Amino acid sequence: TPVAAVIPAAGRGVRLGPGAPKALRALNGTPMLIHAVRALAASRHVSLVVVVAPPDGAAEVKSLLDAHALPDRTDFLVVPGGESRQESVRLGLDALPPQHGIVLVHDAARPLVPVDTVDAVIEAVRDGAPAVVPALPLADTVKEVEPAAVAGDPEPVVATPERARLRAVQTPQGFDRATLVRAHETVTGNVTDDAGMVEQLGLTVVAVPGHEEAFKVTRPLDLVLAEAVLARRRL
Ligand code: C5P
Repeated sequence: TPVAAVIPAAGRGVRLGPGAPKALRALNGTPMLIHAVRALAASRHVSLVVVVAPPDGAAEVKSLLDAHALPDRTDFLVVPGGESRQESVRLGLDALPPQHGIVLVHDAARPLVPVDTVDAVIEAVRDGAPAVVPALPLADTVKEVEPAAVAGDPEPVVATPERARLRAVQTPQGFDRATLVRAHETVTGNVTDDAGMVEQLGLTVVAVPGHEEAFKVTRPLDLVLAEAVLARRRL
């Protein structure tokens, strides 16, 4: 079954500070989005990468892809995104040709995911899981709180889930295509990941080992870490 990757890259990246949309910020001189595209195209199973661009930035993203070396065996498409991540993913799914039966959804904000992680996700979908997430155990204990109305006010703790049973999930998340399309057609509300929508269909999502280097570039310190990882890889 041919595999396609959808990369939502339409977010503004407000938490990273002022400047260009997050996906277009440079890491060691190359836009984060290009790193992310290369990371997915590095898998020999991925034959198509669909980049979901900022709504007014599709032409700019297209010329970026043209300007950087990418593998010949992979096709690339650029489509304009939407208001929410969820809408951007759906617009990416709408652009897929019929033959791709497995779909990966990967944040442009995770530019350094290793190819072994990508392949492990694909393999678990090929083995029959309708949805697969790469996931890591947590270093921190997590508390559920009653969120304060005013940021910074003390917040009552409601519960402490057992840490050993918790995982932080990353991308790429992998899906049987028909399942993901159905999830996007039927699930509404504020969801932060695609696998969560498949859970809401009542299906079992499975977790495979994620990787430290698949962390999400969200805050300014994450840019420092990402450049350090790239520097280490060049040694
Ligand atoms: O904001 P967050 O870090 O959760 O964004 C995750 C990914 O979703 C990023 O790659 C971002 O560009 C993308 N996104 C999008 N369309 C939006 C909002 C976010 O493609 N409207």
